[in-house]
Amino acid sequence: MELPLSQVRKGEEVHFKNPPAAFFDAIGGEEGMKELMYDFYDKIYESAIAHYFPQDEAEFDEVKFKNSKFFIQICGGPKVYENEAKGMNLNEYMIRVHDNFSITESSRIEWLGTMREALADKAQHVDIELIKAFWDYLEHFSKLTVNTFADGSTYYAAYTQAKEDG
Ligand code: HEM
Repeated sequence: MELPLSQVRKGEEVHFKNPPAAFFDAIGGEEGMKELMYDFYDKIYESAIAHYFPQDEAEFDEVKFKNSKFFIQICGGPKVYENEAKGMNLNEYMIRVHDNFSITESSRIEWLGTMREALADKAQHVDIELIKAFWDYLEHFSKLTVNTFADGSTYYAAYTQAKEDG
């Protein structure tokens, strides 16, 4: 699948648009999104970034579950992640969740590559334009989760650097 990937630049402003509800419907609503995310995490555990995630099965299940809820809500589905975000904007909260981990550009690329595979497996029936819109959100937003750079320095994106378009 031809999905573009551009590099993060330390301190840059990142523009992104939340994914369209039409993607959520096309992937199969709550159940379809859950399947996509569980498949994604199964692949994460075979990937070069597996060590970032809990090895304990119950903790791993919790991450899968919360991750599915986040994506259901950010794609315009029911507000099932609302309570987790403690009143914060969902995207702002998500940047801060990732502050607890040292995320590099190469781990971002691995994360996105894993998601691309999960999409290729699960979304053959979904209009390519909707997949591209979902990817666009991931590709841009994920830059705000990168906080550790090749020179060893760290930089934690402020939410003011996130420009939610449209
Ligand atoms: C579009 C970009 C991304 C989104 C939307 C995203 C979303 C999420 C969500 C929803 C969670 C669960 C939060 C919760 O506990 O409620 C999570 C956890 C996590 N994500 Fe991401 N993520 C992204 C990129 C990345 C990248 C690039 C990495 C690189 C390694 C990463 C590593 C992690 C880790 C380590 C956790 C926590 C696992 C734990 O709780 O032990 N994420 N992410």
